[in-house]
Amino acid sequence: MQEELARWRETALAAIAGASSLPELDAVRVRLLGRKGELTARLRALGELPPEERPAAGAALNRLRRDLETALADRRAELQDAADAVAAAGVDLTLPGRPPAALGGRHPLTAIIAEICEIFRGLGYRVAEGPDVELDYYNFKALNFPDDHPARDIQDTFYIDDVMLLRTQTSPVQVRVMEQEQPPLAVIVPGRVYRNEAVDASHAAEFYQVEGLYVDRDVSLADLRATVVAFLQQLFGRDVTIRFRPHYFPFTEPSVEVDMSCFACGGKGCNVCGRTGWIEIMGAGMVHPNVFAAAGYPADAYTGFAFGLGIDRIAMLRHGIDDIRLFYENDWRFLQQFRGLA
Ligand code: DAH
Repeated sequence: MQEELARWRETALAAIAGASSLPELDAVRVRLLGRKGELTARLRALGELPPEERPAAGAALNRLRRDLETALADRRAELQDAADAVAAAGVDLTLPGRPPAALGGRHPLTAIIAEICEIFRGLGYRVAEGPDVELDYYNFKALNFPDDHPARDIQDTFYIDDVMLLRTQTSPVQVRVMEQEQPPLAVIVPGRVYRNEAVDASHAAEFYQVEGLYVDRDVSLADLRATVVAFLQQLFGRDVTIRFRPHYFPFTEPSVEVDMSCFACGGKGCNVCGRTGWIEIMGAGMVHPNVFAAAGYPADAYTGFAFGLGIDRIAMLRHGIDDIRLFYENDWRFLQQFRGLA
């Protein structure tokens, strides 16, 4: 009997402590102490006890009632204080919520990076990343730019000290990935790059690239071509075709620049393509044997292709934006035009 009463006391006190509003607390009070409440029922039941047990049992129930009344009063004071604080702050919790005036959206560059990564995921590629503050070794030397070679002048570099710099390209991540993994591998590397350039409508000192690398046995230039076509057709439309122009990059041999047929005019010539019908879209080539050697791969075991493209340029083409600086100025009037981008 006493044990059962002690258990009931614990549940009753827990119900009081657990009430999270004044109306809820009142409901608990009625359930426990009300005229038809649980304690009242217990007092009524006293009459069924043998007469000699009634005084002690009655006294126990009365003590319990006082304890519960104290607990109720304490909890009521707490809840009242909380309600007063909310009211003092001028908040009416019963009003319906106000929707935010302006929902944010993805930055156009973020959106296009996500889209590009998604297309390559569909082709079996994995996304990899590397550091913005990079070693000269990965940015240049391991990519077959010899020390003091004029090829380094292709890219105006922000040096931090003798060994570190802000990466000028996402290509260093090629070597970092190959150092860690054996072929077959297919990675796509989005990231920010830095160049000490005079800033104008088509040049920024910070911008974005995406690097691609595919290495296995017997990879050919034809595989590069098919991959680039599949990618560009998903990004710009089924009708896109490409052409390779011979070029030079230290880390690929042969190297090419890829042009795609203008998605706006279909190759006839318009403002978007400068009336040529072609748009220069990326650099690419077959991974140079010296780069495989820097990564520690055995000679002649693998072949692979790599490519790199400027994301800002892609976003500018896609949205008809004529000034790269707009991406970095955080002007609300510019950004809000892209609010709907997923
Ligand atoms: N890293 C080059 C640049 O910034 C772009 C590039 C060209 C990347 C050819 C490549 C490649 O992977 O194969 O100009």
